[in-house]
Amino acid sequence: MKDIFRTKSIDSLIAETKGKESLQKVLGSFELTMLGIGAIIGTGIFVLTGIAAANYSGPALVISFIIAGLACGFAALCYSEIAAMVPVAGSAYTYGYAALGEFWAWIIGWDLILEYAFAIGTVAIGWSGYFTSILGNLGITLPTAITKAPFEGGLINLPAVLILVVITAILVAGVKQSTTTNNIIVAIKLAVVLLFIVLGVGHVKPVNWHPFMPYGWNGVFAGASVIFFAYIGFDAVSTAAEEVKNPQKDLPRGIIASLIICTILYIVVSAILTGMVPYLKFKETAAPVAFALQQVGINWGSALVSVGAICGLTSVLIVMMFGQTRILFAMSRDGLLPKVFGHVNLKFHTPVKSTLMVGIITMVVAGFTPIGIVSELTNVGTLSAFIIVSASVVVLRKKDPDRPRSFKVPFSPITPIFSIVACAFLIAHLQTVTLLRFVVWLVIGLILYFAYGYKHSTITEDNAGEKAI
Ligand code: ALA
Repeated sequence: MKDIFRTKSIDSLIAETKGKESLQKVLGSFELTMLGIGAIIGTGIFVLTGIAAANYSGPALVISFIIAGLACGFAALCYSEIAAMVPVAGSAYTYGYAALGEFWAWIIGWDLILEYAFAIGTVAIGWSGYFTSILGNLGITLPTAITKAPFEGGLINLPAVLILVVITAILVAGVKQSTTTNNIIVAIKLAVVLLFIVLGVGHVKPVNWHPFMPYGWNGVFAGASVIFFAYIGFDAVSTAAEEVKNPQKDLPRGIIASLIICTILYIVVSAILTGMVPYLKFKETAAPVAFALQQVGINWGSALVSVGAICGLTSVLIVMMFGQTRILFAMSRDGLLPKVFGHVNLKFHTPVKSTLMVGIITMVVAGFTPIGIVSELTNVGTLSAFIIVSASVVVLRKKDPDRPRSFKVPFSPITPIFSIVACAFLIAHLQTVTLLRFVVWLVIGLILYFAYGYKHSTITEDNAGEKAI
């Protein structure tokens, strides 16, 4: 009987990366920060702000952003400590394998599959909202039947499906998003966010901030667990670990700097947004940031923001779909998923089969499911992964106290515990039906693990670490 809590030793993880054709070490903290911002700013701020303001937080959206930002801040510190200590690709999944053992690694990997697949769906639906809004500016109205999911009065969200066809094709062909392209897209994204701030601030009417908390504190907390989505992506910085010049210093800097910059922007944008338009009006739109500018008569600004948002959302889609295939790749290399997920096509040098599978599944999600359901499922998956990463910090400090840590979470174990509590608090404020769906997801995951991964895992005496706890 194999032990389901067997771990991988950190030394063997690092050695594995050396054996491969090693990736060029070209990234510094600036590039990493840009990578982080590229993955972070997306549907959360451009779309979910409207949903959260109208249905949960009201004008207190800004407080919801602060609460979610705090939870992410604690988690980011934990990510930084482990990413700097175990600078290998695979992110949370790999950390879990080293610290807590195979069973928990599988659970994190399974959560990350949920996170990425549904985040891709959410961002594609957000993309469709802005695309439809641009067409609207041009006087073209697409019928609801092809722009909304069945539960929302349509048949299929066709623009969301079509953008995923394009992204899947890009990733199959292996067009790499270079650092320069990423820097340009991030610059466009930051420019439209700043443009919104500059244009909007003069149109804030404090009367729109009353009542400040129409749905009470519970609404504010529920809003925080919804717009938590806006922060997802800083963890993606750690997936570039093997390409970083000086991971010990640069990774923590990149993770923390991108999170701080986005948090500040989010707080300012949400305060202005809810000050420009009465919060209930956001029920009418799928593109709230452009909508707010339109409402105050700045149509050209609204059009520019929509175009910028479309660029920004496209880049988030590329990063997320890339991340999804790489996680499947890592899990398949470890034997926890079938080999097909690790298969690299000889012509394109990309994991064609797994990219196509991810593409098709996310197209179904994006085409037929409302954004509220998909974004909440992303959040519960990500928050659970954050909890396990935070726990890994505490376990590794105990298990491997002498390994050099170039970045240390301050006040451990208090900060990791705060992180765990804050993430659990946000999970508790998601809709009950989301939690039920998540439990079903976990049960499916457990069945798969014991039916497949447990038997096929490639862990051996040589690469095993000490027992977890
Ligand atoms: N944080 C990313 C977004 O909001 C996932 O689109």
